[in-house]
Amino acid sequence: MIGGAAGQVRVFHDLEALSRAAADLFFTLSHMAIAARKKFTVALSGGSTPATLYSLLGSDEYREKITWQGVHVFWADERAVPKEHPESNYRLADTSLLSKVPLPAGNIHRIGGEKEPQGAAQDYDEEMRQFFGGTQVPVFDLVILGAGEDGHTASLFPGSTSLNEHVRLAAPVFMDLPNIDRVTLTLPVLNHAAHILFLVSGEKKGDILRELLEGEHRDTYPAGLVQPVKGSLEWLVDKDAAALLQNVG
Ligand code: 6PG
Repeated sequence: MIGGAAGQVRVFHDLEALSRAAADLFFTLSHMAIAARKKFTVALSGGSTPATLYSLLGSDEYREKITWQGVHVFWADERAVPKEHPESNYRLADTSLLSKVPLPAGNIHRIGGEKEPQGAAQDYDEEMRQFFGGTQVPVFDLVILGAGEDGHTASLFPGSTSLNEHVRLAAPVFMDLPNIDRVTLTLPVLNHAAHILFLVSGEKKGDILRELLEGEHRDTYPAGLVQPVKGSLEWLVDKDAAALLQNVG
């Protein structure tokens, strides 16, 4: 493991090993949070990387040891599509995880991808404020993120006005066609999480991972702006993604 301003970095042989470490961390953090406060709040991401983690969490091994009744699932972002759509982040998690575990329906706090993004972001913002209570920024126990080759994370893309959002908890993201519009958690929410976990896999992420972990301009990328206020930041990466890092043995 290496550590620094960019967070702790753990390098694994492959996506399977990285996902197992993430599942173990999910179990440990959920166990501690539920013991202390009877609930564990997690925000999930989309993309291809977390699919293996979601399947593992939905497998017999983790299904049985996690106290699902206490787990509350939110999303870091969602695409503006109905929940049955192949691009839906809800669908990704539902297929491999949510439908496999005894999670009460009221514990699933999905973003309304079927609505227009402005209204969906506002509804999601209200749902979070109601759930977490108070006027402070919510503190998720765990936020699971990925990083795109352009340095985006959740649906915060380079140059996006949402990067400057300090008031709203969720923001609409309007993409140029043919990309799908989205809704994303804003940086204050990501940065207030108790534990932020990036999952990064594959050779094509080598350049951006080096920029984000060892570059001098990491703040120019949305993923580099994820800097916890009080919590911890951890990167689980595989050796293909880590190939260009200098400080990893
Ligand atoms: C999404 C995401 C997005 C994703 C990155 C990495 O819904 O697309 O939440 O931020 O995490 O694009 O995606 P991969 O895991 O596919 O590399």
